[in-house]
Amino acid sequence: MRSHQIAVLPGDGIGEEVVREGLRVLDAVAEMEGFSVEKTHYPYGADHFLATGETMPESAFEAIGQMEACLLGAIGDPRVETGMLERAIIWGVRQTFDLYVNLRPVKLYSADLCPIKDKGPEDVDMVVVRENTEDAYAGLGGIHRIGTPQEVAVAEMIYTRDGVERVIRYAFEHAVKRNKNDAPQVTLVDKSNAIRAQDIWTRTFAEVASEYPNVKTDHAYIDAACMWMVKNPEWFDVVVTPNLFGDILTDLGAMVQGGMGVAASGNIHPGKVSMFEPIHGSAPKYRGQNKANPLATIEAVRMMLDHIGEPGGANRIGQAVKHVLESGRIKSLSAGAHATDEIGTIVLDALEQGVGV
Ligand code: IPM
Ligand code: MG
Repeated sequence: MRSHQIAVLPGDGIGEEVVREGLRVLDAVAEMEGFSVEKTHYPYGADHFLATGETMPESAFEAIGQMEACLLGAIGDPRVETGMLERAIIWGVRQTFDLYVNLRPVKLYSADLCPIKDKGPEDVDMVVVRENTEDAYAGLGGIHRIGTPQEVAVAEMIYTRDGVERVIRYAFEHAVKRNKNDAPQVTLVDKSNAIRAQDIWTRTFAEVASEYPNVKTDHAYIDAACMWMVKNPEWFDVVVTPNLFGDILTDLGAMVQGGMGVAASGNIHPGKVSMFEPIHGSAPKYRGQNKANPLATIEAVRMMLDHIGEPGGANRIGQAVKHVLESGRIKSLSAGAHATDEIGTIVLDALEQGVGV
């Protein structure tokens, strides 16, 4: 029997509840497809930090490095200094394993869920390839003379040729694979008119594009891209963009596809251990209330299965989620509209019926 090793990091807030539903779905699919999954759970997050003073130890990174993938719930808790756990755990995993692609599909399953008038599933179907290891996230900079009138705060945006090229190349490969409408297209989103350092993106994009004569290219500045994503989402196929813009653009994308309740992401280094997570946060106010929507985590499990070489299982989940959202059984993707475990059960029902498979 095929067997896979994954790490599970539920994290903070609603992380635990949404991950629980994701794992129910994973177990069901494993049984249907005839593979097994060995899961190692890790307790890292705010509770663990407050009890022990430890964020995430070296030994955990080493252990995860031996696995195929990691499923993460959410990190962030108001009891802990802003950003500290996010940097240690989310950014820690992204950096340690050089997960240079943050793959974020923006796909609308049912017109009812779209906040944009007259737009349906055929209009909202794109993938954002967010660079995931550089930019303002790299941590170069700091705060000096803190608390004085002379205080200076600096955060550098870093782009390396290798870092930019590999993610752009991934975007082109992904567009070829997706082959949307038999006319693949990659759009570069940047702010090279104001941030001239991003000229490295402009030049590298043009060079890589020349190797893909069958892929159409397009360009939008980030401010305009936000507008087009709402006005004409059908214009996009694959979008490639630096880290910070990708972070912002994909929250907008999540709304266009129906809400944070359904938006998933893969932090990927092709062929190596990678991390999958919902793009929403930890929503501490909903913790333990069985209100959070687990569909984004279920979608993250789907992406994880694709990564670890179980496309049949990934397809089952994709079809089940599609069926559930098209059927109108879920009236809203917002927290509290349905119980967390109720949505898990609805998806499991669809899986057991084998919809679309
Ligand atoms: C995301 C999140 C993270 C990010 C935060 C929690 C550091 O917003 O994955 O989109 O900015 O990358
Ligand atoms: Mg974000």
